[in-house]
Amino acid sequence: MHDVVHGGRSLDDALAQAETGLPAADRSLARMLTFGTLRRFWQLDEWIALLTDRPARKLDGMVRALLAVGLYQFVDTRIPDHAVVSPTVDAARLLKRPRAAGLVNAVLRRFLRESVAERAPAGEEAAFNHPQWLIDGLKRDWPDDWRNILAANDERAPMWLRVNACRTTTEGYRARLEAAGYRATAAPGLPWALCLEEPVAVQDLPGFADGDVSVQDAAAQIAAPWLLDGLRGDILDACAAPGGKGAHLAELGGDGVRLTAIDADAGRLRAVVETFARLGLRATIVAGDASKPGEWAEQQAFDGILVDAPCSATGVIRRHPDIKHLRRPGDIDALAAVQARILDALWLRLRPGGRLLYVTCSVMARENDAVVADFLGRHLDARENRMLQNNNIRDVMRPKACGFQLLPGTAGMDGFFFASLEKVA
Ligand SMILES: C[S@@+](CC[C@H](N)C(=O)[O-])C[C@H]1O[C@@H](n2cnc3c(N)ncnc32)[C@H](O)[C@@H]1O
Repeated sequence: MHDVVHGGRSLDDALAQAETGLPAADRSLARMLTFGTLRRFWQLDEWIALLTDRPARKLDGMVRALLAVGLYQFVDTRIPDHAVVSPTVDAARLLKRPRAAGLVNAVLRRFLRESVAERAPAGEEAAFNHPQWLIDGLKRDWPDDWRNILAANDERAPMWLRVNACRTTTEGYRARLEAAGYRATAAPGLPWALCLEEPVAVQDLPGFADGDVSVQDAAAQIAAPWLLDGLRGDILDACAAPGGKGAHLAELGGDGVRLTAIDADAGRLRAVVETFARLGLRATIVAGDASKPGEWAEQQAFDGILVDAPCSATGVIRRHPDIKHLRRPGDIDALAAVQARILDALWLRLRPGGRLLYVTCSVMARENDAVVADFLGRHLDARENRMLQNNNIRDVMRPKACGFQLLPGTAGMDGFFFASLEKVA
C-alpha cells in the first residue's frame, strides 16, 4: 500500500515482494486488503483527515497507509471490529512507528464510536474514489457515462478464460470445468471465451499446464479474430508482452500465420516465451522498439499488424487499482505522442491491402479516437474499416468518430478501444 501510494511502485511488483514467504491464506487476505484499500483510498483518506484533524498527507506515509487499511476492514470486510483494532495498533510497532500506536488506536476507536462511515463524502475524490484529474477527464470524454465508468472501476473483475482453439472446443472445455466443480458461462459473439462464476487458481484449471486454456479478459479476445478476419501471412504483434493477444493470434491463425512478436521490455518478453511454450505455439520473439522497426526487422513488411499500444490502462482499473494512484495528468499526452510514433513507424511496414488493428485498454479519447483521427489526417493511404465481426460485438461497442470503445464493466468486460486501419492497395 505504502509503496504504491507514496513510492510509485506497481501493485504487482509490491505484492510479489510482500507475499514471499506468507502462507496461502495470508497471501489472499493481504491481496484482498490491498486491492480494497487502494480502490477506496480517497474516501478512507477523507476519514483519516477528519479523525486526525489534519490533512492526511501531513501524516507519516506509513501511518497513513496503516490507518487506511484498518478503516477499510471496518467498512468492507466481515472481520470483527475487535480483530481489526489491536492487530492494526500492533502493526504500528512492527513497522517501527511505536509512537504512532496511540494515534492509530484513537483514530480507529473514534471511527467506530462516531459512526463516521455514515457521513456523506465532502469532496468528489472521496465520493468517487478517483483522483480529481481523472474524474474531470472522464467527465469531459464521457459526459453521459463517467459515473458508470467510475463505479465499474471499483468493482471486482470476473475471471475470464480463453479456450485454446488449436486443442479443444469451448463447450468441451466448459464440460471439463463443470466436472471439476467450476461453473462458467459463454459470451455471445466471443467463441473462445468463458466467464468463471468464481475465480480459480490457474494451476487448478483443467489442462492449464498443457495449454488447453489461458486467462484473458473477454474484451482482449476481440482483437485477434478482428485482425485476422480474412487475413493470413506475415503478422506482427508489435507490443506483445505478456503475450495474451499474440498467443490468440497464433491459436487462430495456425499454419497460415507467420507471427513475429516484439516488445521493448526484454524482461516482460520472457512471459511471452513461457506462454507460447505452454500453449505449444510458434512465433519469432524479439526485443525491440516498435517505433524503430529498422532496428529489429530490416526491410520486412507485414500483412497484418496488431498495435496493442502502451497506454494509461484507464480501462482496466478494476483489475489494477494502483493505476488510479500511479498515473499523472501529463501521462496522457505523453502516451499519445508515443502511440502516434509507433503507428507512423509501423505503417511503413504494412503491405498495401494489409490491416493494422490499433488497440488500447484506455478510455481516454486523447489516446484513442484522437490518435486515430490524427493518424488518418497524416496518411492518405489509410482508411478505417468500420465493419464489426458480429452483432453481439456491435451491441457492446460505443462507436466513436474513429474506432470503437468498449467501456469497463459492459457485459462483464474490461475497457478497450479498437480501430481497424487498412492500407489502400
Ligand atoms: C498493453 S501492453 C501489451 C499487452 C499484450 N499485447 C498482451 O495482450 O498480452 C503494452 C506493451 O507495450 C510495450 N511497449 C511500450 N513501449 C513500447 C515500444 N516503444 N515498442 C514496443 N513495445 C513497447 C510494453 O512493454 C508492454 O508490454
